[in-house]
Amino acid sequence: MTDTPETLDAAPLVRHDRTADGVDVITLQHGKVNALSSAVLAALRSVVDELRDAGARAVVLTGGPKVFAAGADITEFAERGGVDPFRIAPAERVAEIGDGFLQALNAVAALPCPTIAAVDGVALGGGCELALACDFRVASGRARFGQPEILLGIIPGGGGTQRLARLVGPARAKDLVFSGRSIDGAEALSIGLVDQVVESDALSTALEMAAQYVRGPRSALALAKQAIDDGLDGSLIDGLVLEQRLFVESFDTADAAAGVRSFLREGPGKADFT
Ligand code: COA
Repeated sequence: MTDTPETLDAAPLVRHDRTADGVDVITLQHGKVNALSSAVLAALRSVVDELRDAGARAVVLTGGPKVFAAGADITEFAERGGVDPFRIAPAERVAEIGDGFLQALNAVAALPCPTIAAVDGVALGGGCELALACDFRVASGRARFGQPEILLGIIPGGGGTQRLARLVGPARAKDLVFSGRSIDGAEALSIGLVDQVVESDALSTALEMAAQYVRGPRSALALAKQAIDDGLDGSLIDGLVLEQRLFVESFDTADAAAGVRSFLREGPGKADFT
């Protein structure tokens, strides 16, 4: 078990802690089900931007023990203050909600360090999409994943048709998105939606994984992440060209100087990157 996080600062909707190992932990804490309201997404983006600017080395994103996040705040899908409280929100408001997801989840995905979602409860809709914006997903036996938007007569708006399809393939993504069904950790593991299912709590495992990255070569990890993520956005040939550029760039870093020197002097795997 990695160190218990020590609280550095408190935010009402999204908490940030740093463990003694130097892992930054983002915890959603909004109401009963961590509904991702516009305010939660803005708070998340603000915390993520701060961590990026502060040079975070590994980030774990988690929710509650029962619910990781139940998706978009559905109460925001209705017009407020009108005669009919169930009247659907106008297109401009829906566009604002969508933009909140785009900005916050893209900020998570663009963090230049390894990110791990620790999912101990349900991750539905935007909750699943938030987990998809991380590099890895660790799930406990209590975890469930799904894109239930179709059951509301809408479609995913936080990457569920894009990141999910890229991760598990179009047919599996269509199965989940078309049916709205939720799946447990074992099935999520079998289709590659999660990377590890653990008996105990997902957070402990995610913290242990993340602690290894804190001790790793920061610049090389950031460049490797950029090469894989940006490379997947384009053609193979463009990706290979990008990789070449970043490969050369990686030699111009303190990580390369320490790593290559260490190998030549002492053999593999002994470099100290901290
Ligand atoms: N947005 C806003 N409120 C939500 C919500 C959401 N996405 N999901 C659940 N809630 C609310 C419920 O309305 C309920 O409110 P109430 O206590 O004031 O009645 C409360 O959270 C608890 O939900 P409940 O369904 O009673 O709890 P549960 O433990 O039986 O189930 C969930 C929890 C998350 C599995 C279930 O609520 C659910 O499936 N939610 C919808 C998820 C979804 O469709 N997300 C996609 C959004 S696009």
